[in-house]
Amino acid sequence: MSITIKDAAGIAGMREACRLASEVLDQITPHIVPGITTLDIDRLSAEAMARQGTRSATVGYQPPGYPPYPGHVCTSVNQVVCHGIPNDKPLKKGDIVNVDVTVITADGWYGDNSRMFEIGEVSIAAHRLCALTFDAMWLGIDQVRPGARLGDIGHAIQKFVEGHGLSVVREFCGHGIGQKFHEDPQVLHYGRPGTGEELVPGMTFTIEPMVNVGRRDIKEMNDGWTIVTKDRSLSAQWEHTVLVTPSGYEVLTLSAGSPATPDFVKGMAQATA
Ligand code: MF3
Ligand code: CO
Ligand code: CO
Repeated sequence: MSITIKDAAGIAGMREACRLASEVLDQITPHIVPGITTLDIDRLSAEAMARQGTRSATVGYQPPGYPPYPGHVCTSVNQVVCHGIPNDKPLKKGDIVNVDVTVITADGWYGDNSRMFEIGEVSIAAHRLCALTFDAMWLGIDQVRPGARLGDIGHAIQKFVEGHGLSVVREFCGHGIGQKFHEDPQVLHYGRPGTGEELVPGMTFTIEPMVNVGRRDIKEMNDGWTIVTKDRSLSAQWEHTVLVTPSGYEVLTLSAGSPATPDFVKGMAQATA
């Protein structure tokens, strides 16, 4: 395992890439209403990237064994866990959709983040899933500081999610990120405290839990990308890119339109500042 440690220039590059990735989500947000298609979301995202001077990390992305990914973003609706491919089906009231945006700046730095969007009024169960998954992400983030271990992040997320009767997807994880899309380490969203790699200032990685209402099992669709829940239950995901700092962490994928940080995080950040 070789984890890259970002120096001052790398941190500056990551701050910019991640802010821009978040701003893409800000810019598409007002448009995500009943009747929009995920292809519309893809096009609006591509246009926002063009205005920024960034490019999509996902379009044409082809890890070994996969077909090239066709979208500028991933759009994962309802029972889709992740890597949903934008299509021409309109979103309707009651749907939930994850939009996952990864940009590459002109300097070659990657910023990766995703948010859930609720289309019109959604069911109580769907709203609760989205809200609890957001809190789970932040609970994981709030574990980050030098000396903590990756297992502390995974454990915090798993304990919270399973404590609410939901399940954590195991097959996909957060990841180191920098001048590559996916670097070491793998950031699992389950685990045991005090295990795994020790966190060191200058590391940058994502935390992006996928949480299902039903069982954790997943299935891959024939397009080679789309992942759905095996039991067809709803699934949600949120993602931030974080930097390990000397005193704790900095969430890099924040911008004016980011949903408010939960109070439980603000409290702890003050206590340790
Ligand atoms: N952005 C996703 C992540 O969080 C990866 C998407 S890969 C794609 O790691 F090819 F599906 F776009
Ligand atoms: Co990611
Ligand atoms: Co992502």
